[in-house]
Amino acid sequence: MTKNAKLLNWVNEVAALCQPDKIHWCDGSQAESDALCAQMVTNGTFTPIPARPGSFWCRSNPGDVARVEDRTFICSQSKDDAGPTNNWFDPAEMKSKLLGLFKGAMKGRTLYVIPFSMGPIGSHIAHIGVELSDSPYVVVNMRIMTRMGAKVLEALGPTGEFVPCLHSVGAPLAAGQKDVAWPCNQDHKYIVHFPEERAIWSFGSGYGGNALLGKKCFSLRIASTMARDGGWLAEHMLILGLTNPQGQKIYVAAAFPSACGKTNLAMLTPTIPGWKAECIGDDIAWMKFHSDGRLYAINPEAGFFGVAPGTSLHSNPNAMQTVTHNSIFTNVGFDEAKGDVWWEDMTDQPPAKLTSWLGEEWTPGCGKKVAHPNARYTAPAAQCPVIDAAWQDPQGVPISAILFGGRRPTTVPLVFEALSWQHGTFLGAQQSSETTAAQAGAVGVARRDPMAMLPFCGYHMGDYFAHWLKVGATAGAKLPKIFYVNWFRKSADGRWLWPGFGENARVLRWIFERCAGTAPAVASPIGHLPTPEAIDVSGLDVSRADIEELLRVDKGLWLAEIPAIREYFAKFGARLPQGITDELNALEQRLKA
Ligand code: GTP
Ligand code: SPV
Ligand code: MN
Repeated sequence: MTKNAKLLNWVNEVAALCQPDKIHWCDGSQAESDALCAQMVTNGTFTPIPARPGSFWCRSNPGDVARVEDRTFICSQSKDDAGPTNNWFDPAEMKSKLLGLFKGAMKGRTLYVIPFSMGPIGSHIAHIGVELSDSPYVVVNMRIMTRMGAKVLEALGPTGEFVPCLHSVGAPLAAGQKDVAWPCNQDHKYIVHFPEERAIWSFGSGYGGNALLGKKCFSLRIASTMARDGGWLAEHMLILGLTNPQGQKIYVAAAFPSACGKTNLAMLTPTIPGWKAECIGDDIAWMKFHSDGRLYAINPEAGFFGVAPGTSLHSNPNAMQTVTHNSIFTNVGFDEAKGDVWWEDMTDQPPAKLTSWLGEEWTPGCGKKVAHPNARYTAPAAQCPVIDAAWQDPQGVPISAILFGGRRPTTVPLVFEALSWQHGTFLGAQQSSETTAAQAGAVGVARRDPMAMLPFCGYHMGDYFAHWLKVGATAGAKLPKIFYVNWFRKSADGRWLWPGFGENARVLRWIFERCAGTAPAVASPIGHLPTPEAIDVSGLDVSRADIEELLRVDKGLWLAEIPAIREYFAKFGARLPQGITDELNALEQRLKA
């Protein structure tokens, strides 16, 4: 146990408020995880997966399947500080509302104290949090996704600082009441952040980013405010290492919106001979300057919470090998005959009969999906066959290139390079993408998602752009180059123009060689573009016409987008930095020239 007075007092306060039957301090051991999993099997929450040792199949409540952006709040003292892209609520009013909801909310349940470190314990880039939750599902997931347990309390010590993360599924049990397999509270969901206090209160959901509070809530919404104050960056980015045939290596970070290809790129198997890619992380990057002037990144997480549907030995063999054991599968299908999980496109041939994520019998061609589109696996990063040797390096890895991107069926070419840090910041700021199943709501709707941080920035987005520009102006900084990529461009008849996945290595190669100063580029109004010859297409079944289309910049389409970008930026009012406006104006001038 701990002697940390702040922690002990807080646990006592929360216990008095939420009235759990028991309090359990998590030690993070295998035995503890095994016992909780066994308890969840008894309760019907988990089903063991015989084909995957140490793994479990889990079905959520059908109404609790993704992040809920309209129930996510940034409660800064001033509404202005949350900005136009966040839901704001007065912190005092929100607290009094939530105190009412949390009162007695853990009756009949156990309060788990979950100490966790985001980042290698002891790294100067890492930070500690403690989640208090009444969900054993959260405990076993947090054990995979973070460094969790007794060793974190040790690092915290008697006076150490931590981010308090309070979570309840919001489903108290009356005496003798039988629990359901997936408790949650459909009528009252609140994912709430108090950025000034650096505290998180989450109520009513047991799923993903709503409940595993080290992930989006801490590592992005709270950490982005910490980063603003401390001169560093907390970003929704994968990190990968890329080695050329001569053995030279660079690290690349990439910000794509949810379900737009981070995990796939982070673990890609290059299709071009001699090139090697290794994974540091698939979702979040924390980056700080070192004395050499470069930005060094750590992956604050210790596991992957990845999209299952579409993952296969073709698309992402490394993810498939990562999830062969010690993994949790939420909202996929189950094959009783084989004792294994299955989801859309996992294999070419679907099994003859499955149980769907809704618990219903499913047969191929029945017209329904067997897995929810946002079904996810939780798996330890250490099990990834291409995990980078430096993935736990407390110093982080130096970043040479930052990529922005998203789902854009038209307009945006396969890849181009920013003219400067300020231009790259502008490109990130105007980034847009079609929505996916990772958040509740409509899928396929185009929206601006600056730096893939729209749902994750804990403060005013205009200030966030200013922070990026300030980072770029840091004295002595040797900044990464910034690129923009689009794997999702379609032909007029709706076919993907680019094969994607492992073939994205061909684009990474150009990026590597731009960083090395050896690859050619041509000037265009939007930035530096590769010549068609500069993209290595050897052995690739893509026509010359498609490559040209992928790299084509249609000035008319870009010009048509300028008013929409201008209107979007106008939302940020006086907090939109001049540098961003300057870049928009300059782009317009270049397009008109
Ligand atoms: P989050 O975990 O929600 O942050 O998502 P992510 O950005 O890690 O996305 P992920 O890699 O899980 O990909 C999501 C979806 O995009 C999957 O259905 C993939 O099959 C698809 N996808 C990924 N890479 C590519 C690509 O290069 N081309 C195409 N066409 N689809 C891709
Ligand atoms: C995302 O939606 O970007 C995710 C999944 O990575 S969740 O943890 O639910 O936020
Ligand atoms: Mn994500």
